[in-house]
Amino acid sequence: MTLKTDTLEQWTTNQTLIQWIQEAVQLCQPDHVHLCDGSEEEYEILCQEMIVEGKWQRLNPERRPGSYVCSSDPADVARVEERTFICSEKKEDAGPTNHWKDPKEMHGILQNLFKGCMIGRTMYVIPFSMGPLGSNIAHIGVQITDSQYVVCNMRIMTRMGKKVLDVLRNDHFVPCMHSVGYPLTDGKKDIPWPCHPTEKYIVQFPEKRSIWSYGSGYGGNALLGKKCFALRIASVMARDEGWLAEHMLIMSLTNPQGEKKYIAAAFPSACGKTNLAMLTPTLPGWKVETVGDDIAWMKFGEDGQLYAINPEAGFFGVAPGTSMQSNPNAMKTISRNAIFTNVARTDDGDVWWEGMTKNPPAHLINWLNHEWTPNSKEKAAHPNARFTVPASQCPIIDPTWEDPKGVPISAILFGGRRSSVVPLVYESFDWRHGTFLGASVSSQTTAAAAGEVGKLRHDPFAMLPFCGYHMGDYFGHWLNMGHSKKAKKLPKIYYVNWFRQNANGEWLWPGFGENSRVLKWIFERTSGKGKGVDTPIGVTPTPDGLDLTGLNISDETIKALLHVNKDEWKKEVTELADYFKLFGDRLPKGIHDELHALEQRLNSA
Ligand code: OXD
Ligand code: MN
Repeated sequence: MTLKTDTLEQWTTNQTLIQWIQEAVQLCQPDHVHLCDGSEEEYEILCQEMIVEGKWQRLNPERRPGSYVCSSDPADVARVEERTFICSEKKEDAGPTNHWKDPKEMHGILQNLFKGCMIGRTMYVIPFSMGPLGSNIAHIGVQITDSQYVVCNMRIMTRMGKKVLDVLRNDHFVPCMHSVGYPLTDGKKDIPWPCHPTEKYIVQFPEKRSIWSYGSGYGGNALLGKKCFALRIASVMARDEGWLAEHMLIMSLTNPQGEKKYIAAAFPSACGKTNLAMLTPTLPGWKVETVGDDIAWMKFGEDGQLYAINPEAGFFGVAPGTSMQSNPNAMKTISRNAIFTNVARTDDGDVWWEGMTKNPPAHLINWLNHEWTPNSKEKAAHPNARFTVPASQCPIIDPTWEDPKGVPISAILFGGRRSSVVPLVYESFDWRHGTFLGASVSSQTTAAAAGEVGKLRHDPFAMLPFCGYHMGDYFGHWLNMGHSKKAKKLPKIYYVNWFRQNANGEWLWPGFGENSRVLKWIFERTSGKGKGVDTPIGVTPTPDGLDLTGLNISDETIKALLHVNKDEWKKEVTELADYFKLFGDRLPKGIHDELHALEQRLNSA
């Protein structure tokens, strides 16, 4: 088909956008083009279409109104880091932690793959804003896709539709091209989860600030506003423009006296960011409210403080393990208007996953569409099964979550899954040391990405799969932010580890709501209070520095949780020094000096 310029001009005045859509139509050859308006009606029509086409099912409206469930192709269940490319002009600018291909070569590959890729399908054009519309921290993208599932998810995860074009006018936008790679050539029939069985490409062009994704319909591979734009491309924009695009939750903490502070925290994928962002404190009188659970964009404000927005409008959370015990606020958030992917279906038209209830239902249809009973060998839900839900439905959403100027950040936390070595919490000596803590994050891998689970890997700043440029330069950017002229009051930086175990492999710390005790210490420290003791790795709480009222935990366990074992840390230093070699001469001197200083403190302690 050809698309009339008139039709497009009624929709937008942005000539670059009009030209880009026309080129895409020529290349992908869809049967129809749908310019998304973002309305409720449009959403309903797409949902209905997907039901009729057997792509998803409506859940029992009495149990979960406005909600849908679907299963992906079993070969399309997670982000594919092996197939993710940063195609900078120069290979060295992508750095050693990213896959790279020459942009011209990649362009050729993509042109071939996208040629005719939407035959027999509708091309949807989705204008979206990452961040509250009109915020000076927000940015606009336009995604082209041939997946109705993607349109529906993007409507929840971003602010999307006509209202975005009104803000965009003739300005710059990030073009995001996506196809599931399953053309319906020669009348071929559609299938419930179209994707390409083998060819998958998730490609970022940092200089052009454009994104091309082919072959997958799942999560971060396909909802291009999320990882591809809000992290990979945005990290490049942030470097060039002096701000930060980070894999961080944002939450507020209010003490019993009503004083409120905001915290941002970076943990690798599926390490509990959603749980922390929605935590129910066990400490009386303390309150947590949620601003975001995955991504933070942060800029210095006029007053020299770092302000953060959540660029997303929804949560794309890991379902397994989510329960009324682990995260009641998430459970309430997903009680309606949610999309569930790769979970199990109950006989009464609802959903279930491992960990949702103590006792599993007697019968389910699992994510593979197989009959399932508690004796089945297969999982009920895939470990990376997800819910997509509007953030506004969260019962503890912070009233300021859509404030266009963002929220002032008092503390930044880094963390990962570490069964040993790393104490429950410690504070960095200053911003440079805090940057070093971010650079030294390592964590056991999870099901959020395709590949082995449970393997310890370095994941600096929890950004390993998401940094759009050379990781060494990224460390440098963080160091520079610390001496930015605009920075008058830098957040304090912490490292936390909820996952330390004893010799029998048992968790030492109960986690979840009890993490409020750690947050209280951090809150107090940012006010110049809270008792701490200097150790070679940073400041840990004194044993009485943590409020343990009402918690049944022994002194020995607390000691073990806060213990800094010098020999283990010396090994950690050797291992880190080895890892940092990867960055060659692009490892900033500040990080090198911090490693050296840590080594000296360990040797002289
Ligand atoms: C996510 C991830 O989906 O980090 O947020 O994988
Ligand atoms: Mn994430």
